[in-house]
Amino acid sequence: MQVPDIIIAIDGYSSTGKSSFAKIIANEFGFLYLDSGALYRGVTLFAIENGYIDEACTIDVPALTEAMENLDIHFGKGGTYIGERCIEDEIRSLEVAGKVSPIATVAQVRDFVDRKLREFGRMKRVVMDGRDIGTTVFPDAELKLFMTADPMIRAQRRADEMIAKGDQVDVEEVLKNLQERDYIDSHREASPLTQAEDALVLDNSHMTMEDQVEWIKNIIKERFGC
Ligand code: DC
Repeated sequence: MQVPDIIIAIDGYSSTGKSSFAKIIANEFGFLYLDSGALYRGVTLFAIENGYIDEACTIDVPALTEAMENLDIHFGKGGTYIGERCIEDEIRSLEVAGKVSPIATVAQVRDFVDRKLREFGRMKRVVMDGRDIGTTVFPDAELKLFMTADPMIRAQRRADEMIAKGDQVDVEEVLKNLQERDYIDSHREASPLTQAEDALVLDNSHMTMEDQVEWIKNIIKERFGC
């Protein structure tokens, strides 16, 4: 499919399959896929390892802000990197998942991540997923989606993924973590998760990946005539 030079912004709740969907359509359309949550997770790992966030999730904002000035976080082969170190596995741990939403409430962290994302978006032909891509990072994105699904279905999907990786998982705990994240993401002061006015809603509770790809292809055909 010949898709024009556009930015596709995908926002939505945790574990709605945003990144799997974004990766597949990026591949299908020859676009670059950018996972904004991975940058928040990377900053969180950095904060945990350097003592800028404690067990109670109290964050030393001035120290973290200063340290981020020299933080080289980027995407490379196989995922997200800090300097030469691939951190893709570590940023998917429950510990990082439990601390990333508080870290993502910090305005200085959001500025840092937004700057990186806008650099990547300058070239267009990107699919970016997150919580505020269509509202804050790229309010002029040509195509905006808002993904959602039933919370229990989301928790089960996330638990299945973790079990497949060999983790021991309690679905109720995953559901609790997910609902806490939904709450914090939607209620924070800086760029809360909200649906952009011009976003199209994709509720994939009962859709396969093929259904979703078909859905977006039809939309692109209608909207851009290709
Ligand atoms: O998509 P994810 O689960 O990897 O995102 C991890 C966290 O990062 C999520 O709890 C909220 C935050 N996030 C955000 O605030 N803004 C974004 N654009 C992307 C993620």
